[in-house]
Amino acid sequence: MQKIIRPASSLSGVVVLPGDKSISHRYAMIASLAEGVSTIRNFSTGADCHSTLGCVQGLGIQVEEEGTLVTIHGRGLNGWSQPAADLDAGNSGSTIRMMSGLLAAQPFTSRIFGDESLSRRPMDRVMKPLAQMGARIEARENRFPPLTIHGGPLKAIDYTLPVASAQVKTCVLFGGLFAEGQTIVREPIRSRDHTEIALREFGADLKVAQRVITLEGRPTLTGRELTVPSDLSSAAFFLVAGLLVPGSNLVIQGVGLNPTRSSLLDFLLSIGAPIQVLKIESVNGELIGDIRVRHAPVRGGVIEGDLAAGLIDEIPVLAVLGAASEEGLVVRDAQELRIKETDRIDTVAENFRRMGIQVEVTPDGMRVPGRQKFRAAGFDSFGDHRIAMAFAVAALRGDGESTIDNAEAASVSFPEFWNILDLAACASA
Ligand code: S3P
Repeated sequence: MQKIIRPASSLSGVVVLPGDKSISHRYAMIASLAEGVSTIRNFSTGADCHSTLGCVQGLGIQVEEEGTLVTIHGRGLNGWSQPAADLDAGNSGSTIRMMSGLLAAQPFTSRIFGDESLSRRPMDRVMKPLAQMGARIEARENRFPPLTIHGGPLKAIDYTLPVASAQVKTCVLFGGLFAEGQTIVREPIRSRDHTEIALREFGADLKVAQRVITLEGRPTLTGRELTVPSDLSSAAFFLVAGLLVPGSNLVIQGVGLNPTRSSLLDFLLSIGAPIQVLKIESVNGELIGDIRVRHAPVRGGVIEGDLAAGLIDEIPVLAVLGAASEEGLVVRDAQELRIKETDRIDTVAENFRRMGIQVEVTPDGMRVPGRQKFRAAGFDSFGDHRIAMAFAVAALRGDGESTIDNAEAASVSFPEFWNILDLAACASA
């Protein structure tokens, strides 16, 4: 599908975005292992979270969907049954990596696969700790999907993550649910902690001290009523669009503001973005609030170290903002970008070239000079949702009509993106 994006004269109004992808995955997986019914409101509409629901159903768990309300009939920690067919994780790295921890503990063998992009993403980062727990997993070239997981009893481990990854942390903690005793995960940097919060919500005994998480194995998890905050990583596209397009004044409602995710807001504030958080409340242990953004020039800056890990999903759209900023943007220590849905350093750079924006690519990031002119262009998502949306935002500042090829990729996390963008953007005369 090709989308045409015309320059916008402003973005305004109140927008409500779909439920957080990271939290939806976790609620669905944990609810399927809880005793009794869980209801999940504002479940992500993205294809990725539906891949998770498909896997859970393939494991014999009843799932009902009514719009964004998802009901999951959990059957307890030992309630999954052997799937009749291979499990399809689609495009979703979270699904395959987090489910692996759960599948490794089952008394049966299962196979989980993904689409072409997922089949190129490394799984050795979860295979290694799971092997230490006693799991036997086969993979293409020992590291790529599909994974054949010979489930069995797992033992608790004390694992230091070599790279900051919430998916790997979750995989180990999920395996630890089935092991006797304490599973300990040590993180180099505090990654998103939705798993820790969700496991506690469902009744697990889990402690966090600094960057060390300790989980008591074999808890009884109990079905819950939950509401998912809207996705801050989806809000990022509207925050940047609001900053970029003159005259914009936008409110984004009910967004998840978990401190392990909100480096985005801290970074934007630090470079002079006029962002206000209008109110904050806590729902199921997660912070939720409304965010107002107005157009303003921003300084630009450097994303490196811990910040690069905290902003990893938002870097493509922040690079777009960087090209319009006063001083430009430097990204370092972000080599993880190369193993996302696409190599996001290369796909960002290619789209920049198409619009005449200068960029210098480095092995672990990029350098984008500021104050650049945004020209209309023919962009490509290269099948990556965040690339589709980042360059739709760039196109709003273009000097004419731009196109985005393979725009359907946005549906992986945010199917409503194009409609909400149309509603919020007033076309320039
Ligand atoms: C996610 C963690 C991050 C992020 C991904 C979602 C999660 O990946 O990039 O989009 O829900 O745990 P890593 O854990 O691999 O860094």
